[in-house]
Amino acid sequence: MENWTRVCALEDIPRLGSRVLLHRDPDEGEIAIALFRTQGEVFALRNRCPHRGGPLADGIVHDRHVSCPLHGLKLNLASGEAVAPDTGCVRTYPVRVEQGLVHLRLG
Ligand code: FES
Repeated sequence: MENWTRVCALEDIPRLGSRVLLHRDPDEGEIAIALFRTQGEVFALRNRCPHRGGPLADGIVHDRHVSCPLHGLKLNLASGEAVAPDTGCVRTYPVRVEQGLVHLRLG
């Protein structure tokens, strides 16, 4: 599990919901990462909408997407890319779930 950081238990993230993790990045300082749980997967994205910085963790999770709570921009949870006709992209982080524990690669 080199370079992977255990962040929480899978059960700590509500299904079709999210949880926010604060991380101290060496370049950017403290940043918020949103962990999203769909019906069968977990995704991690920077908790900042590329439109005007809305808190993505407060958005609605549907399929493999989240809709920003402020103006409805729809993002692909796997790629962090906005779904056309919207544009923009948010940083994503690799996720592993093993034995009920969620790990992120934060480097
Ligand atoms: S801030 Fe997210 S859609 Fe505007």
